[in-house]
Amino acid sequence: MTTLHGVDDLVAALRELGDILQPVRVAATLRGVRVDERTLAPYLTWSSGRYTRNLVVRDAGFELIALCWDKDARSAIHDHADSDCAFVLQNGAITCENYRIAWPDDSADSACNLTRTSTRTLRAGEIDMRSGHLSVHRVGACDGRAVTLHVYAKPIDACRQFDEDGTSRVAYSRYDSAPA
Ligand SMILES: [Fe+2]
Repeated sequence: MTTLHGVDDLVAALRELGDILQPVRVAATLRGVRVDERTLAPYLTWSSGRYTRNLVVRDAGFELIALCWDKDARSAIHDHADSDCAFVLQNGAITCENYRIAWPDDSADSACNLTRTSTRTLRAGEIDMRSGHLSVHRVGACDGRAVTLHVYAKPIDACRQFDEDGTSRVAYSRYDSAPA
């Protein structure tokens, strides 16, 4: 486990990866990293029963977001549009449910076949990586509150969210907090 002095150190490390962030290098930058939580405190907001998305930094190449998961908060089942996503767990425990997706035809307007394939629980310092439209999962806190640091490269403004019956819709991203 590596503890960084501040979240700015993580931002600097990500910026060193260049204008186009390679997923393997992002993963290597995040793996085993914990940020001194005093420097994260300004970015952490909480909402009962759900998770909040708190922007740390955003440029053309990536965005870094602190997600605060209230007890038992879960995301929707979702894809990752045209972006690569990686996150590292700071504290708490997070469950990732992975889904296999198949469209019955080439139309995204009809329901897809969605099958849960595996479940994995992450602990502090562990990472998860996702890429693109076929990488579908659901993430949730499973042992009280949790904080995760997510890197989306490039920034993600919308993704597709799924119900368990395979129906889906475009969902636009929003931040619960952002630096002034
Ligand atoms: Fe995700």
